Amino acid sequence: MCEIVGYIGTREAAPILKKGLKELEYRGYDSAGIAVLGRGGLAVEKRAGRVEGLSAALRGRCGIGHTRWATHGAPTAQNAHPHVCRKIALVHNGIIENAHTLKEECLARGEKFLSETDSEVVAHLVARAYRGDLLAAVREACSRLEGSYALAVLAEDGKQIVCARKKSPLLVGKGEDGCYAASDVAALPPKCEKAYALADGDFAVLGKDLALFGADLCEKEGEEVVLERKEEGGLPFGFRHFMRKEMAEIPRAMANSRLEIKETGDFSRFYEVLCHAEYIQIVACGTAYHAALCFEHAAEKFCRVPVEVTTAGEYRYRDPIVPKGTLCLAVSQSGETADTLAAAACAREKGAKVAALVNVLHSSLARAADFVLPTRAGGERAVAATKSFCAQLAALYSIVHALAGIAGREAPPFSLAKEAETALVRSEKTARWASRFAAARSVYFIGRGADYCAALEGSLKLKEISYLPSEGYAAGELKHGTLALIDGRTPVVAIATSRALAEKTMNAVSEVRARGARVYLITTLPELVSRGEIEDFVLLPPCEEEYSPALTAIPLQMLAYHTALACGNDPDKPRNLAKSVTVE
Ligand code: M6R
Repeated sequence: MCEIVGYIGTREAAPILKKGLKELEYRGYDSAGIAVLGRGGLAVEKRAGRVEGLSAALRGRCGIGHTRWATHGAPTAQNAHPHVCRKIALVHNGIIENAHTLKEECLARGEKFLSETDSEVVAHLVARAYRGDLLAAVREACSRLEGSYALAVLAEDGKQIVCARKKSPLLVGKGEDGCYAASDVAALPPKCEKAYALADGDFAVLGKDLALFGADLCEKEGEEVVLERKEEGGLPFGFRHFMRKEMAEIPRAMANSRLEIKETGDFSRFYEVLCHAEYIQIVACGTAYHAALCFEHAAEKFCRVPVEVTTAGEYRYRDPIVPKGTLCLAVSQSGETADTLAAAACAREKGAKVAALVNVLHSSLARAADFVLPTRAGGERAVAATKSFCAQLAALYSIVHALAGIAGREAPPFSLAKEAETALVRSEKTARWASRFAAARSVYFIGRGADYCAALEGSLKLKEISYLPSEGYAAGELKHGTLALIDGRTPVVAIATSRALAEKTMNAVSEVRARGARVYLITTLPELVSRGEIEDFVLLPPCEEEYSPALTAIPLQMLAYHTALACGNDPDKPRNLAKSVTVE
């Protein structure tokens, strides 16, 4: 997604801006740019491609920078930010929904546009309103905007950066050497000693000092965020990619993410709500959505509480029914996913208590929720979610456990850190499968029950980093249409961890085998691995079938990783994708 940085102070701005953008690079982007205000006025450099290509030679101690993930207009240097209009330079993250109308208005006034972006229109509005007071001009411009934005703006004849925020994340901070702005803590250098999250509708002025303002332009105190940067370091020896390193961290992420939800202690308020929850709705996207589906299976089986899982982008627009006593769980690694934020807000408006299960504690979702349940996976830099998925499952299974206790039922205890270690070792053999997968036209992942949820996640992971068409399918559904697509060139990954459903999944295996498919089995059941129909298998340690996605995810992630390498792709930075999706 688009990321913003800004600096004003006693040091040269360009190297600081470049360093900040580099720290956020892993989140995905396609073009970059910086604007620096120096003695000679405003200097701008923009390019399609990587931040490395920007020179750090622009001189000046005040500047703004941006990485862009194209939404309106191709990823070209012209569409890259900063956008300049007369004295104003501006970077924007978010989507201006009424950009078309505003642009028509500007064009009618004879104003010229240089890019196809929605963002450039904001630079025009600020430039039109600017009469020496940049804060007032930004505020006036913002009053015309619909949609989402995080903005950092500077004026050629000013000595400040003005920031504004609505729905898109933005932090501002200060240290001895100056003031900073950034989309995320990771881009704030160690010299930045204090940082504040701008609230929706707020503004900040970065100059000699840092000042925060509410929507009414009255100065206000900021909400300080914890500057936890230690997990954002480089790639340790022995790992070629962050994705693989993060997979190695799965056992620790799971152990750290179990929650002690009981009457006393940190989560006692949440426990109270859980005691009265008659209905649970979960909103999430992508991998987090799959974690939620796994929860649904376990919670309904062990606790007999009705659970409804909806992708966040669908939830908000379908006018959902939120019965009295609904607990809404919003699950998100980043806590910045625009759809999840909007869905959680929608559930809250309709009377649900909202608990945010997030990995980033200073995130917008954490701030907007009634309760924050942390996953402690540590920073995740690879775009493909790996350890955060297993950490979400550990936390969600802790909720299952607490709910079962409240309902006077039994749920088996969950602790799979040791088994995950074994799974990591046994999954390495998927490297031998990779060349065949890389050569396939399409791939199927099949399973039933909780294994079906794992199949969906396995398929998403493969698509995301290998770019191969693939589908996760309920094993019993194949024969209702999709079997027509299976032939000798289709690898099928079957997941079978349920003794009760294993034979049914193996029936589907026989059906695809009969059409020539090669079948790769991921199982916890030793009796299945000697079946003649299997090309190869990963045998995982025994585990309660409802919790098994936390284990089966590991060979699935590993298979995706090795296939991406076999396809010649960088698994950490898949094309077209961003780590946190801050636009709708
Ligand atoms: O930060 P979130 O958990 O809210 O992100 C949701 C999805 O965008 C994310 O899980 C995405 O699907 C992953 N890149 C998948 O690996």
